[in-house]
Amino acid sequence: MTNVEISRLATKIRAVTGLTDSPIALHEPYFGGHEWQYVKECIDTGWVSSVGKYVDLFEQKLSEFTGARHAIAVVNGTAALQVALELAGVQAGDEVLMPALTFIATANAATYLNAIPHFVDVEYRTLGIDARKLADYLVDLCIIENGQCINRQTGRRIKAVVPMHTLGHPVDMDPLIQVCERFHLELVEDAAESLGSYYKGRHTGTFGKASAISFNGNKVITTGGGGAILTNDSELARRAKHLTTTAKVPHRWQYIHDERGYNFRMPNINAALGCAQLEQLPAFLAYKRSLAEHYMRALAEIPNVSVFREPEHGQSNYWLNALVLDERSTTSCEEIIEQLQAEQIYCRPMWKLLNELPMYRDLPTMPLSQSIDIERRLIHLPSGVKSPS
Ligand SMILES: Cc1ncc(COP(=O)(O)O)c(C=O)c1O
Repeated sequence: MTNVEISRLATKIRAVTGLTDSPIALHEPYFGGHEWQYVKECIDTGWVSSVGKYVDLFEQKLSEFTGARHAIAVVNGTAALQVALELAGVQAGDEVLMPALTFIATANAATYLNAIPHFVDVEYRTLGIDARKLADYLVDLCIIENGQCINRQTGRRIKAVVPMHTLGHPVDMDPLIQVCERFHLELVEDAAESLGSYYKGRHTGTFGKASAISFNGNKVITTGGGGAILTNDSELARRAKHLTTTAKVPHRWQYIHDERGYNFRMPNINAALGCAQLEQLPAFLAYKRSLAEHYMRALAEIPNVSVFREPEHGQSNYWLNALVLDERSTTSCEEIIEQLQAEQIYCRPMWKLLNELPMYRDLPTMPLSQSIDIERRLIHLPSGVKSPS
């Protein structure tokens, strides 16, 4: 792309977002509903911390929206994923299959349990785990012993697989579920980015044993910081609540804790924000879909780029739109981002592959040809929930 074409791209981004002369953030929260009212009520009544009506209501509304039987609200998406993995039986020394192309939290959550990330490739269609490639890889790598999947190279158990619905686009779950059944793996979805995304009509995050959602300030809805564990299993839900509330045994005044739990409960004041945001979620999703369509139309005129489109098997929340550079593009993402940032359009690159980061460099990894290619050809486009126009 020439500098002139990148300038045209900048003009198009400004036109699509409606932000013609101000800086354009990658993603900003939007508070247009009952946020002040609900948060004020928490302050006025003193119910700001781990107990209160909003945190229970938020869980109930989240469960209704996603169709998951249970939702357990916690302090952030990373904590949600850590506990979801623990609920699925991941233990110290186990390997956990996950994409190399994901946000750092996916691997961090596993390592907080002293488990070992094992990086796998993603596919072009979804930007999520390539289940067919994974199956071929596991056939060569693993043996099944006593109903457990053992990595023949490391001797360790591979306990779970964590699909991540990248930028909100649903992973192709059917072939992945088959892989889980065939290789005795637990399925734990990292649905941090995919609230409002569906695979064949079913909400992401409702397929495996348990899953994690994030309500960070950059997500479709926010609680400031926050996350939730989703599960359809009542016993796991009970355990999730217990573990995330310091494993305190109910008693009117005694401090009795029956195991080493976590202080992960979402505060009521954050949940108040979340309740107000959930009320606006359908409108946010409609806005994001229309933003994606506008991007696709407007950027069709720019040579050698396209806008990533949701896979046919599902419905994406289009959390973040992505610009895809053609294979033959001679301009790098870095060059484009640099020029856009100079024009105060705060686009970002894809995450660095996790197996290239110093602390995760020496971990088991399958050949990652598609991840490497995608990482060097995708740019995150500004995708806030609502433009001021
Ligand atoms: C893929 C992915 N996993 C996990 C997380 C962790 O969520 P949080 O930031 O709420 O801890 C995020 C987002 O921040 C994410 O994008």
